[in-house]
Amino acid sequence: MQDGISSDAWLELRLPADAVDEEAFARLCESLGAAGRALETRAKTGDAEQVAWFPLSAQSGADEQAARARIAAAVALAGVDASAMRLKRLQDDWATAWQQDWKAMPVGERLWVRPSFCEPAPAGRLDIVLEPGMAFGTGSHPTTRLCLEAIERICAGPNPPRTMLDMGAGSGILAIAAARLGVRRVLAVDNDPDAVDACRANAAANGVRVDCRLGDAPPAGTFDLVVANILAGPLADMAPALAAATGRRLALSGILADQAGRVIAAYEREGLSCRRTERMEDWVCLEMERA
Ligand SMILES: C[S@@+](CC[C@H](N)C(=O)[O-])C[C@H]1O[C@@H](n2cnc3c(N)ncnc32)[C@H](O)[C@@H]1O
Repeated sequence: MQDGISSDAWLELRLPADAVDEEAFARLCESLGAAGRALETRAKTGDAEQVAWFPLSAQSGADEQAARARIAAAVALAGVDASAMRLKRLQDDWATAWQQDWKAMPVGERLWVRPSFCEPAPAGRLDIVLEPGMAFGTGSHPTTRLCLEAIERICAGPNPPRTMLDMGAGSGILAIAAARLGVRRVLAVDNDPDAVDACRANAAANGVRVDCRLGDAPPAGTFDLVVANILAGPLADMAPALAAATGRRLALSGILADQAGRVIAAYEREGLSCRRTERMEDWVCLEMERA
């Protein structure tokens, strides 16, 4: 990916998120010299899309037709049907045009997640401001919403958590929500340095204290609540470490409904029981407790 590119003409590529996996899309973007990419959910339809932006000046010969052909060929090589691809030249005002696809979102009973350019939270809801595209976690993905709802529910229940570990924090959205909901000590860990930077910046912008750290394993000690929105495979592998960090409750997402059994079994072997499963679209969030 190329940083800090300025160009007066751009091509935007959109592929349905279920047509290409994230790693393959990242490789495709890298090979074509994309200036940026994002996983977006269209506000109007709720469809998830992989999106990338290409500066035309960086494409072969600055020729739009050649650039289109090159992108189409790479998409075909990635095994995506041409009919699924949307490729368009962006207008001069594209830098702000994308904002129309974003809106503030009420989440659960008490949260309000929005980019800075959308209206602030109405009375009774807690404002969480996140800039789209900084790191995974703008609240639009079902797994993020499921985790936010779980955190809110757990914080509103008996014996609310005083400490929380957000493993795989991304933008820090879950950590920030927990801090807003009254969790006193929140630790956010991610193995991507860019995510750690984004998490730190977002926590500061939201005026909450979150300890953001780079790492790929939970720190020593236990937390009243552990939340991890990663993927079923890594979550199953991390079961011994995440269970050891869980003082009382654990919420896991990033899990497709048909993968839930395997993840539950991995955590049951570590002495946790699944108390609740919430589903949104194809995704689930598992709420587990020490047996
Ligand atoms: C799906 S995003 C979740 C972001 C945010 N927590 C949310 O719920 O929207 C998963 C995040 O986990 C991070 N991650 C993946 N494997 C990890 C590991 N083993 N240790 C720490 N972070 C990991 C990724 O870098 C990414 O930021």
